[in-house]
Amino acid sequence: MKRAVLLQNRPGPGASADDRDTLVQAAVVRKALRTLGLDTASVPFTLNLPETASALRGAAPDVVFNLVEGGEGGGRCIHYAPALLEDMGLTFTGAGSSAMALSSNKLFAKAVLRAAGIPTPDWHALPGLGAPRAEAAGRYIVKSVWEHASIGLGDDAAPQVDCAGELCALLRARAPRMGGECFAERYVEGREFNVALLDGPDGPQVLPVAEMVFDGHWAEGTRVLGYAAKWEEGSQAYRATRRSFDFDQDGAQGGVPLAEALARAALACWHAFGLCGYARVDFRVGADGVPMVIDVNANPCLSPDGGFRAALRRAGLGFEEAVMRILQAGLSRPGFPLSRKAV
Ligand SMILES: Nc1ncnc2c1ncn2[C@@H]1O[C@H](COP(=O)(O)OP(=O)(O)O)[C@@H](O)[C@H]1O
Ligand SMILES: [Mg+2]
Repeated sequence: MKRAVLLQNRPGPGASADDRDTLVQAAVVRKALRTLGLDTASVPFTLNLPETASALRGAAPDVVFNLVEGGEGGGRCIHYAPALLEDMGLTFTGAGSSAMALSSNKLFAKAVLRAAGIPTPDWHALPGLGAPRAEAAGRYIVKSVWEHASIGLGDDAAPQVDCAGELCALLRARAPRMGGECFAERYVEGREFNVALLDGPDGPQVLPVAEMVFDGHWAEGTRVLGYAAKWEEGSQAYRATRRSFDFDQDGAQGGVPLAEALARAALACWHAFGLCGYARVDFRVGADGVPMVIDVNANPCLSPDGGFRAALRRAGLGFEEAVMRILQAGLSRPGFPLSRKAV
C-alpha cells in the first residue's frame, strides 16, 4: 500500500478560528486518502526545518499532502514547506515553492499579474508612496502583504483618503495587525466572484463560478468579506454574506460572457503563476464589467464549508476524486524531481 503523509501546522489550544481550520482540512483529507486505499501518517511542520525534515524522512512517504499555511512564522513562511519538500526530492501536492511565494505575497502576485496582462486593481505600497501626490486620493482597501483569511480586515478595511501622506500614515498604523506589512489597493465596489480550478487529465478544469453575495444593506465602501464575515458565525457580517452559484443563469447581469471572462482570467492566473493541483482565484468586477483579480490562492482551503468544496459539489465532483487528481498532479509535476545535487 502506498503511504501518504500529511504535512500540516499544529495550532495550539489558543489558536484563532482560521488557524484551527487546518485541523478540519487535515481530517477530511486523511479520510479521503484512506478511502482511496492509501496508508496515512501526519507530520507537524515547524520552523525547525532539520527537525521537520527528519520527521518526514522517518515517515517514509510515497507522497506528501502539503497543508501548511505558514503556521508559527505567519503567512510569510508558507513557501518554506514546498521549498523543503523540493530540497528533499519528495513528491508532494499543490503549488511548488516559487508559485507559492509569488501568489501568497500579494505584492509579488500583483507584479506577476501586471506582467501577464491580467487585470488587477492599482495599488500603492509604502516605499513607492513618497511625497504627497493628489492622484493618490480615493478609496482603498488596506491589505496584508503575506497574510490571508482576511486577517486584519475589520469594518474600517476600505478607508477614503485625500492624499498620499494620509495613505502612508494609514499603512504604517495598520501594519502591526496585518502581519507586519500591508499595502493599499484601489477599492472596487462591484460584485465579487471566486473561481476554483482543479487539475485533471486534460489540464486545469474551471469549476462553476461562485458569487459572494452581500445581502441587505451594506453602505458604499464597506462591501468587504472581512475577518468577521469569514470566521465569526454570530456576526452580522457573517449572516449578511453568502455564496451563490445562481449567477450563471442570470443573463441580465452579465451571465455567460462574464462567467467566460472570469474562467479565462482564472486560467491565465494558473499558467502565469505555474500552479499545480488546485487553486482558487478571487475577483471583483467594477462598473466597466472587467474582472479584476484581487487574490490568487494556491492550495486553497479544503474544509467542507470552504469555497473550493462548494465548487466541487456544484460540479458534481466527489472529494475523493478531487484528492486523487491533486495527488496525480503532484506525481506528474513537470521538471520533478529536482536534480540540485547533480548541478
Ligand atoms: N480591491 C478590492 N476592492 C474591494 N474589495 C476587496 C478588494 N480586495 C479585497 N477585497 C475584499 O477583501 C476580501 C479579502 O481580500 P483578499 O485579497 O481576497 O485577501 P485574503 O487573502 O485575506 O482572502 C475579499 O474577499 C473582498 O471582499
Ligand atoms: Mg481571498
